[in-house]
Amino acid sequence: MRIVIRLGGSVIASPVNTDIITKYSEVVQILKNQNQELVVIIGGGNLAREFINIAKKLKLEEKDQDEIAISISRVYAQLFLKTITQIEDNKIALTLKDVVDCLDKGKIAVMGGLKPGITTDSVAALVAKQIRANLIVKGTNQDGVYNKDPKTHMNAIKFDELSYEDLPKILQENNHKAGIHQIVDPEAVKILKNENITLIIVNGFDPNNILAAVQGEKIGTKIS
Ligand code: UTP
Repeated sequence: MRIVIRLGGSVIASPVNTDIITKYSEVVQILKNQNQELVVIIGGGNLAREFINIAKKLKLEEKDQDEIAISISRVYAQLFLKTITQIEDNKIALTLKDVVDCLDKGKIAVMGGLKPGITTDSVAALVAKQIRANLIVKGTNQDGVYNKDPKTHMNAIKFDELSYEDLPKILQENNHKAGIHQIVDPEAVKILKNENITLIIVNGFDPNNILAAVQGEKIGTKIS
C-alpha cells in the first residue's frame, strides 16, 4: 500500500518529545519491513506558531510568516529522517517531485511544509493525490473526530466512521471562531474527497495507533 502518515507538530514537537520521535521511527521501520510505501509529513507545532508571531511583530507579510513556519517544520522533518536508518542521500523532500523520486528509489519520503498559504494537512492531501495513496493516517492530539469539542464538552461523542459528505458539516459546527485549530483542515478534506482517499484520524500520542490503523483495526475516526 501507499500510505501517507501525517504527524502533528502538536504531537512530536510541542514540546519536542524524543521518546515519541524514536517510537515513530520504529513504527515507520515496521511498516517499511511490511513493504508499505511510505511518506511522512511533519508539522511545525508550537515553535512554528511562535515564529509566525515573531514574524507578525516584525510586520512581515503572511507569505513570509508561512515560509518561516515551513522552515521550522522542515527542521523537524530533517530530525525525524535522520532517525530512520537510510545512510545514503538522506535529504528531506522539498517538492512533490522529491516525494515521487524517493518512492521510486524505494525510500521513505519525509517532508515538512510545502508552500505558503496551506497547512501541513493540505500538504499531506496533495502528496496523497500525487502518489495516488491508498490511505492517509493523521496522528493528532485527539482520539478522532467528535460531534462537539471534547475539550470543552464532557458529553462529546466520537465518530468511529464518517463519510466525506458528513465531515464538513461537523467541522463547521465545531468551528466557533475563525482561525480555530481544526482537527483536520477542510481544504485537505476537499482534496481527499475528490481523490477518494481514505483518511484515518488517530491519537498520535500512541504511535502504535498508526500501526493499528494501517492494519485495519477499528481505531480513531475513519473517513471515506
Ligand atoms: P500546521 O498548522 O499545519 O502545523 O502548520 P502542525 O504544527 O502540524 O499542526 P498541528 O497542531 O500539529 O495539527 C503551521 C503553519 O505553517 C504554515 C501555515 O501558516 C500553517 O498554519 N504552513 C505549513 C504553510 O504555509 N505551508 C505549508 O506547507 C505548511
